[in-house]
This record gives sequence, structure tokens and C-alpha cells, in this order.
Amino acid sequence: MDYILSPSILSADFANLGADVKEAVKAGAKWVHIDVMDGMFVPNISLGLPVIKSLRKETEALFDVHLMIEEPGRYIDDFAEAGADLITLHAEATKHLHRAIQQVKAKGLKVGVALNPATPLSALDYVLEELDMVLIMTVNPGYGGQSYIAKMDDKIKELRAIINEKGLDIDIEVDGGISAKNVAHVKECGANVFVAGSAVFNGDIASSAKDILEAMDNIKKQIDYKKILSIILVMVFMITFNNNVYAAELDNMQHNDQAYVLNSFSGNNLESISVRF
Ligand code: DX5
Ligand code: ZN
Repeated sequence: MDYILSPSILSADFANLGADVKEAVKAGAKWVHIDVMDGMFVPNISLGLPVIKSLRKETEALFDVHLMIEEPGRYIDDFAEAGADLITLHAEATKHLHRAIQQVKAKGLKVGVALNPATPLSALDYVLEELDMVLIMTVNPGYGGQSYIAKMDDKIKELRAIINEKGLDIDIEVDGGISAKNVAHVKECGANVFVAGSAVFNGDIASSAKDILEAMDNIKKQIDYKKILSIILVMVFMITFNNNVYAAELDNMQHNDQAYVLNSFSGNNLESISVRF
């Protein structure tokens, strides 16, 4: 499974969009998250087709287009033409969700379905197998800079369990309130694509993106560390048995002038281990 940072350009400087996006991509972001809002499905209006078309010339990174618009099926062809690689539709905004999913697939694009915080996972019951990605909204859609809704931990965990149980290869993207502080935790819950808007673009873009990527990687290092530790423990256990150690008197510590002397028994042999201070 790939772990991906998808910076949301909603918090970028629109007068400097190309350069901002290039900086985030150079720092290690593989996707670019593009929030399209229509002022109907969500209260806010953001950006649309011409912006995506212009931005397409600036980078080859995957365009992860999050449509927060009513009946997105009406615009699939247009977003495909503008340069989207992955289109995510909201289950709540799409009357004929199954049909709209097929429309995206027919364009040869990856397809995702987004769920608002209050929408249950059961909304995906009859379409999950069709999807490349599920977007779990971890804030109510419409604005950047909101706080992560902690209750979404359970939703992410449940979804990852369902995907694993069915043996599917589906990304779980989380969107809203993600930063270097909580990305490792959300990853542990089961997410693997992380949208971050304000945490990337409200400050130094390159170092903010790197901070998030590092926090994502730390978990990997911890898992490796645990693996290495358990291998060492198994080896120590086996060596101990092979050496036929019957008793060890670890409490037999004596103190002399320069050192503590730890006397232990290995088989019938007395061994002394000095620890100098
Ligand atoms: C909210 C958008 C998000 C938003 C995230 O409706 O879908 O992509 O940009 O912003 P942050 O990361 O600041 O919460
Ligand atoms: Zn979004």
C-alpha cells in the first residue's frame, strides 16, 4: 500500500498557484488535491475547470479532484478533459451514484466516493467493489482550517477492516484537519492518502510538507523497529537454550572499588561481568 500526501490547494495562494503546487510536489507530495465547490452542496465557492486546465501544464502529479458539487455526473467529461486523474463524488450529492461512478470509469480515470462525517459507511454497500478510493471527510466539507473530528477514527478503522476482509485494493483518503501532529495516528487507524491544506500552504510549503511526510514515515520506522526487536528476542531465546543455561543468579552483585561485579552462572560455570562507572 502506498502512503501519499495530497496537498489541498484550497489554502494555496491562488495568485501564485503554479509555483505553490510545484514546491509541494518537489517536497514529496505525489498527488494534488483540488477542491471544487459550487455554493450549493457546500456553502462555499472555490475554483473550477479553467484553473484545473491551467494548473495541468505546471505539474505531472496526479490530480485528485474532490467534487463538492450537486449532481457531479453532469460534469465528468469536462473535468476529465481539464486534466483530472482521479474524480471523487460525494454520495450525498449524487442521486444516481452507481451511474456517475461508471461515467468516471468510462473516461479511464480513477474513481472515489466521499462521505460526509454523518454519512454511514453503509452508503457504500453496493458500490464499494467499483471504487479505487473512499474519501472519509474528517471535517464537514466547505472550508479549510477546521479541526479533525475524532469520532472519524472509528469510521476509518471500520472501513479498513471491511476492505481487508473483502480482499480489496482501495485507498482510504482522509480530508480535513490533517497535520504533522495527527497524521501518524490517522495512518494507524487505516488511512493511506492524507489531504492537508492549511498545514501545507499556511507557512513555508516545502518544510511543512516535509514535516507531514516525516510524521507519516515515523510509523513505518516504528513498525520496522518492532520487527527487528522481536527477531533479536527470538535469537537471544534460541542462543540461551543452545548454551544450556540452567541458572542465572542476577541478584548476586558485589561492589568493589572500581566496578560492580555481576556474578552469574552459565551451566556449571561461574561467569563474572564487570560494569564500570
Ligand atoms: C474541505 C476540503 C478540504 C480542505 C482541507 O471541504 O475538502 O480539502 O481544503 O483543509 P485543511 O487541511 O486545512 O483542513
Ligand atoms: Zn477536499
